[in-house]
Amino acid sequence: MPNNQHRLFRGGGAFSLRWCRRLSRRDWIISAAAVATLGVLYLSISPISVSRAFTKPNKNSTPASDWVPFTPLSKSTENSAVCLDGSVPGYHRERGFGSGSDSWLLHVEGGGWCSTLSSCLARMSTKLGSSNYMERQVQFSGILSHDPLQNPDFFNWNKVKIRYCDGASFSGNPESEFKNGTKLFFRGQVIWNTLMDELLSSGMAKAKQALLTGCSAGGLATLVHCDDFRELLSKDADVKCLADAGFFPNEKDISGNSTIESFYRDVVHLQGLAKSLNHDCVAGSEPHKCFFPQEFLRSLKTPIFLVQPAYDFWQATNILVPAAADPHGRWFRCKLNIFNCDPSQIDVLHGHRNSLLKMLSEYQQIPEVGMFVNSCFVHCQTWMTDTWHSPTSPRINNRTIAESVGDWYFKRDSVKRIDCPFPCNPTCYHMDFTHS
Ligand SMILES: *[C@@H]1O[C@H](CO)[C@@H](O)[C@H](O)[C@H]1NC(C)=O
Ligand SMILES: *[C@@H]1O[C@H](CO)[C@@H](O)[C@H](O)[C@H]1NC(C)=O
Ligand SMILES: *[C@@H]1O[C@H](CO)[C@@H](O)[C@H](O)[C@H]1NC(C)=O
Repeated sequence: MPNNQHRLFRGGGAFSLRWCRRLSRRDWIISAAAVATLGVLYLSISPISVSRAFTKPNKNSTPASDWVPFTPLSKSTENSAVCLDGSVPGYHRERGFGSGSDSWLLHVEGGGWCSTLSSCLARMSTKLGSSNYMERQVQFSGILSHDPLQNPDFFNWNKVKIRYCDGASFSGNPESEFKNGTKLFFRGQVIWNTLMDELLSSGMAKAKQALLTGCSAGGLATLVHCDDFRELLSKDADVKCLADAGFFPNEKDISGNSTIESFYRDVVHLQGLAKSLNHDCVAGSEPHKCFFPQEFLRSLKTPIFLVQPAYDFWQATNILVPAAADPHGRWFRCKLNIFNCDPSQIDVLHGHRNSLLKMLSEYQQIPEVGMFVNSCFVHCQTWMTDTWHSPTSPRINNRTIAESVGDWYFKRDSVKRIDCPFPCNPTCYHMDFTHS
């Protein structure tokens, strides 16, 4: 594959050819398709398919891949816990072994949100709204891998990948459904409750250690449900939460419009999220504000860890520079590849990073909070081996994301790892959508 076709840069350039060789053209066509739809399904597509590009086995270190079958939720019908289209939600589970038998790791899939009747209806014919379109098996890699080389601390835990098909981070409530014959279900919270019951009765009730994780909209679901999850488990259990790219800041776009705030207002209103959001927060502000982690993180009692790229490409495209805020397309090339950005655009991106760091500064002194905020143009980084833990994965202070999360979870070190500003870190993987 010629060099000009690669879609993802290493910061320093030295690794780009190597990275390029590891990816097949087909993988990148899949990722390109995902990104091409980004503009059309505004705010609704996460880089789920992009991340497939990362799962190609590394010949040097990867054993046979783990393909894990889909398990439909058994009490779905009884509890009316259904996807947007009424289909049965589900998950993929791999059993723990050895010393990991009583430890549980849950990973919540992402995929944006739907904020209108029509965008939710559109999801019904995709896997983000219907299990009829979900893969019957998925590959477990990164934080879900059973290989100690790829996943040093959690490889032998019970692992569950939770599929996302409600469009509101598992927080929708049926009271908000249209009562006029529109066949659209808002059951996110019901799915969550039913799923937790099922996992508790299949062994999770005995968990001695647990980690609730998720990426993007799943990272937000992780934060929203973190304290409730903790309450489900024994008082003696060590329970923590890890949000990957789940910190969506309430920031204005470059035209001064509150794009993400309006969008969240619509999601929260449409699917009746108020009931599921942090009660202390909802008591004191408009409910949609409580969908922003900056408004409720401080009241969480459970230890949390944030893996957050400071130059999150999803945030750049949907929060900072949505298409409406850039009518002349001056940001078009920059949003495809951060190396295309001109100095004034880089300044804007640095500003976005600075406000993120400012929001996170109040957690610097809290020992239970962990952070890995790297300066990469990427989105989710925990469930791909290449970004989670490999000889070439992103590092801060020479620690990978997997090592940092392990250091925090097992209290080996206090972990507040904040990267220097772009483009200083040569270990970054940066997305490149230029040839999509
Ligand atoms: C149901 O109500 C919604 C919201 O008012 C409306 O947009 C939709 O068209 C209605 N559906 C039917 C089948 O009348
Ligand atoms: C700002 O938001 C308003 C209301 O949502 C919208 O009508 C307008 O087009 C937006 N302007 C820009 C530049 O995004
Ligand atoms: C970084 O860590 C690796 C092991 O993970 C070690 O081999 C290497 O020497 C370290 N590099 C530096 C500069 O400390």
